[in-house]
Amino acid sequence: MEFSIKQSNPENQRSACVVLGVFEGGQLAPSAHSFDEAANHQLSDLIARGDMTGKSGSTLMIHALSGVAAERVLLVGLGKQSEFNAKQFIDMLRSTFAVLNKTICKDAALYLTDLPVKDKEEAWKINQIVLTAFESVYRSDSLKSKPADKPTLRKILLGCSKKPGTAAQNALHQASSVAHGMDLAKDLGNLPGNICTPTYLADQAKKLASAHKLKVTILEEKDMEKLGMFSLLSVTRGSRQPAKLITLEYRGADKKQKPVVLVGKGLTFDSGGISLKPGAEMDEMKYDMCGAASVLGTMLAVAEMGLKLNVVGVIPSSENMPDGAASKPGDIVKSMKGLSIEILNTDAEGRLILCDALTYAARFEPDTVIDIATLTGACVIALGGVASGLFSNQDELARELLDAGQYSNDKAWQLPLWDEYQQQLDSNFADMQNIGGRAAGSVTAACFLSRFTKDYRWAHLDVAGTAWKSGKEKGATGRPVPLLTQYLINRVGKK
Ligand code: BES
Ligand code: MN
Ligand code: ZN
Repeated sequence: MEFSIKQSNPENQRSACVVLGVFEGGQLAPSAHSFDEAANHQLSDLIARGDMTGKSGSTLMIHALSGVAAERVLLVGLGKQSEFNAKQFIDMLRSTFAVLNKTICKDAALYLTDLPVKDKEEAWKINQIVLTAFESVYRSDSLKSKPADKPTLRKILLGCSKKPGTAAQNALHQASSVAHGMDLAKDLGNLPGNICTPTYLADQAKKLASAHKLKVTILEEKDMEKLGMFSLLSVTRGSRQPAKLITLEYRGADKKQKPVVLVGKGLTFDSGGISLKPGAEMDEMKYDMCGAASVLGTMLAVAEMGLKLNVVGVIPSSENMPDGAASKPGDIVKSMKGLSIEILNTDAEGRLILCDALTYAARFEPDTVIDIATLTGACVIALGGVASGLFSNQDELARELLDAGQYSNDKAWQLPLWDEYQQQLDSNFADMQNIGGRAAGSVTAACFLSRFTKDYRWAHLDVAGTAWKSGKEKGATGRPVPLLTQYLINRVGKK
């Protein structure tokens, strides 16, 4: 999909479809007034007759209006002007693209960036338009023998009343990159476990590296043994697929500038291992690599944007399967850091694979480390699909991530990492055990990771509830690519 932005009057704009807003009560959005004049008040007439009320979610497609250059005009309801906020704006965009994608229109001209959205500037509106447009045309049908008909919409013009400045142009370019990153994360997430294996993820990382001049390194199991990553390796013992530790390095700033390291959980299938999961919805555990997918998506977006900062992606990837060689409840393993771990539940494998990757991350002398993981079912219970769980050993970093999530509409919510929770991980036989009981399951998982991240500024995003949707709409969401890229964009801005 191609986007452009320019100053233009909707009545003169040649387009398959011009999109204009109407507030509840039938009040035309400012940009629609001149259009209505040129069209001999045909819009006001329709509104007066009651064909369009302006209720949020409502739409009206009008064909062959006289006096204007476009072939069609789509009126979209904005709801009450006094209540027009971020959520209303995004809901309106969703209905707009749902209608456009059912037409034969190849292009459209949207006059929506001038709408007054509470507390939001033009760049934010541009960002949301682009992301919602990509979202609306995304399909995961590469494995169907007859892919569904693709939407025809190719070109979108954002029309505005003032000449767009560099902030607007930047927002447009950055949003497209974020959308490309999200599409990659979705594609990888949606692939089944028999295709998207650790080896496949490693190959994708290599592809990404050669397309975008990144440095890629793949560690094999024998390399991990040499490094003493026996916690990570304990997870892959039951699998026929070799585990991989993938590293991607993007250098957009001076060599001396310390990087942000993103660590993504890459479990390409989590059966639970010997602590086997129940059968219902087990297919969704193909999504247990969505943290890894978000790291790859973010690396793609960052490279495309050419952000002036250094970012490293680290992806520990394996399967978790039951087998004669698999780890058993009660097994004790030694982590790369030297701490011993009693595995009381082989289904709490994410933390086992992440702890060694987090120890490994220190070799990049990071300024900040952020891990992204579909870590706990408890996080789905706590926050559902709205917010990712956020934990951090530094409040300023937590604040920055919360703000980035709020801005990009990829929200996170902070949960505590207080010392009082740490004792739930005490073991009679090892330095710690890998589960802390049912109480505060997401917190104890984060507490486990915190024992391996003491040497740097660190945050953990539990995306178990946000990385994919279940049920009829089953599919990866591409989250938290928007949050992560926005955080990185903001960092460049601060420097
Ligand atoms: N990948 C799962 C977490 C998960 C479960 C994400 C359901 C999304 C939906 C993780 O490896 C896991 O199995 N966690 C266990 C931990 C427990 C054994 C302490 C869980 O949440 O049940
Ligand atoms: Mn598990
Ligand atoms: Zn898992």
